[in-house]
Amino acid sequence: DRGGFPHFMLKEIFDQPRCLRDCMSGRLFDDKVILSAVRNNRARLLSATRFIIVACGTSWHAGLIGKQLIEHYCKIPVEVDYASEFRYRDPVILPTDVVIAISQSGETADTLAAIKLAKERGAFIFGIVNAVGSSIARETDTGIYIHVGPEIGVASTKAFTGQLTCLTLLALALANAKGTVDHDEFVSLTKELGQIPDKIDKLLKENDCIKQLARTYTYATNFLYLGRGWNYPVALEGALKLKEISYIHAEGYPAAEMKHGPIALVDNMMPVLFVATHHEGYEKVVSNMQEVKARGGRIIAVVTEGDTEVQKIADEVINVPSTLAPLAPLLTVIPLQLLAYHIAVEKGLDVDQPRNLAKSVTVE
Ligand code: M6R
Repeated sequence: DRGGFPHFMLKEIFDQPRCLRDCMSGRLFDDKVILSAVRNNRARLLSATRFIIVACGTSWHAGLIGKQLIEHYCKIPVEVDYASEFRYRDPVILPTDVVIAISQSGETADTLAAIKLAKERGAFIFGIVNAVGSSIARETDTGIYIHVGPEIGVASTKAFTGQLTCLTLLALALANAKGTVDHDEFVSLTKELGQIPDKIDKLLKENDCIKQLARTYTYATNFLYLGRGWNYPVALEGALKLKEISYIHAEGYPAAEMKHGPIALVDNMMPVLFVATHHEGYEKVVSNMQEVKARGGRIIAVVTEGDTEVQKIADEVINVPSTLAPLAPLLTVIPLQLLAYHIAVEKGLDVDQPRNLAKSVTVE
């Protein structure tokens, strides 16, 4: 049931506020985070010397943000691997490692094989999975369900923001148990996380503007997505969404890498989308924007509302409500999902069933 929406993807984008409330329900409180998986495996998790996140596609992008969250709040080193690379590389896996498998479907063959390998070598396996009772959920030692409900559209949307929410809850629960986070910082983050669904509701009101903007870019055959820090994985995710459903070639890069190659591509036929929220690194992203502008590139910028500097440079500006830097991806990804959706619809493509793709990749 598409609930009155023309496609499942649009329904799932608009479902995100409610889904994230469900995901946080019973877990997030102002002064604490309760995850039974953490409470019941406290000693094993707290003694971990390293976390290894394995996933594919969008779930791997969530993993990149998970790495930043866990390293920042818990001070534990984290590696992020494509499950398909990890399993074929003869990786070093220690019995003190905790492997986090992230998957919407819980049936991705490479992710399943990666955790079987890690388990054989003695690692403890923690799942962040949406599909209840799925193969990955059954194979893990413990974990948390994403609880965003079934995702039907092939392009993952609400599962991604749900994964980010779970990773934030996990980082906070571990950090609190380990004593690596300052109490005030903890409380400000939990309070702000609780506000995110309302902020997404507000952001979704930009849908008509983004639809309008999409019309301008249906001609494009290439796109660059750039972001820094917390927003770098969002650039990767925005580019993947565009590729998958609108068949426009898009590349995501960390903004600072631009001058090491991709800038050679920039001309007046190359739209460049910058994720440039008002956080650390903002000034640097703005100067990258100026370099693109000087080469004739068309700029779409996702900025924090109230921003005036980018307004002077960018061709199009999309505002997102202000939030704490580690939570910015939960907001900045939303306009990127909508942009990919509207461009695909404008091109007359089958948004929910893009060519050559399956919802769960159960082959290697
Ligand atoms: O079900 P999973 O999260 O394990 O799936 C992983 C990828 O196949 C998936 O995220 C894929 O990249 C999506 N189509 C992205 O929109």
